[in-house]
Amino acid sequence: MASLVDVDVMKKLLITDVSPRDGLQNQVVHFSTADKQWLLESLFACGLTRIEATSFVSPIAVPQMADAADLLAVVSSHLKEKLCVLVPNQKGFLRAQAAGAREVCVVLSATETMNQKNIRMSLNEALTTCLAVLVQAKEAGIRTRAYVAVAFACPYEGQTSQDVTLRLARKMAQAGADEVVIADTIGAAHPSQVSKLMVPLMGEIGPERLGIHLHDTRGLGLANAWAALQVGVQRFDSSAAGLGGCPFAPGAAGNLATEDLVWLAHESGYDTGIDLPALLTVVEGLSIRLAKPLGGRSYAWLSQNVKYLKAGAFGIS
Ligand code: COA
Ligand code: ZN
Repeated sequence: MASLVDVDVMKKLLITDVSPRDGLQNQVVHFSTADKQWLLESLFACGLTRIEATSFVSPIAVPQMADAADLLAVVSSHLKEKLCVLVPNQKGFLRAQAAGAREVCVVLSATETMNQKNIRMSLNEALTTCLAVLVQAKEAGIRTRAYVAVAFACPYEGQTSQDVTLRLARKMAQAGADEVVIADTIGAAHPSQVSKLMVPLMGEIGPERLGIHLHDTRGLGLANAWAALQVGVQRFDSSAAGLGGCPFAPGAAGNLATEDLVWLAHESGYDTGIDLPALLTVVEGLSIRLAKPLGGRSYAWLSQNVKYLKAGAFGIS
């Protein structure tokens, strides 16, 4: 089957795979540092150019991330350059900096209760902390991503006020965040909400600095990604095998699967630079290591048809 894609109109997407952090933070099986290293190296071998590798959070709060510094110590400097790490507070930033992190992600939830549950700060304290870390990171020459979490809905407070999300995203942008990431932490958004929120933000922050982080809890992950693509968003977070979920956000299921997003993107004429057949082998490796069948909505079909994918018979893969 010939591709109908016109290569001249192909647009490039930047996909950040968050499976080593968002994916592994909530798993019953704890990955060893060596297995995490395998995951990072395998994802890069697929063509991913940015990966959220770990978080410098309390080892009591999230024991799965207790080896954050050890992980950065074992990856090559070339790889480290392309990793980002989540920091919840000042202490996390200092630990990440000491471990040689080149990019940090701050996280600000758009509701009072979610900030309390996640990082035990009020919204105002969390905002002050995030802004301070953004400034500190910039001074240290460390790149930054700023999450606005529960941007559409909160597991504790219900629908999030769009005005609040817009205000917080603007503050992060004004503080100089290299990327502002709108996060549907519990996968509760629907496509018209995505368009409504992303259109003004695209106008103010622009495609070079605005990203979206989607979960697939209610089956609308890809539809939401499509809505974002339609308004010009080019930066997406997703997770290999659809792993994901925040331990402090009840009901948060897996992230939008990277293989689903890549499939959608390639079939629709977007270039991701990601080798989809290679990514399927990473999904298989994750299933083996986590001892359960994994994969996004397209995985069963894609893995049955991988030989055709390899031959370039579908889309541009
Ligand atoms: N890394 C490691 N340890 C940390 C830390 C960090 N970033 N921040 C605080 N701590 C330590 C403190 O040093 C203190 O240790 P001590 O008891 O040995 O003195 C202990 O944790 C408690 O410190 P406190 O400031 O009272 O923190 P807290 O108990 O209120 O917890 C967080 C705040 C942010 C550390 C904790 O809630 C957390 O790590 N949350 C993780 C949230 C997360 O990962 N969510 C998913 C991704 S968004
Ligand atoms: Zn998430």
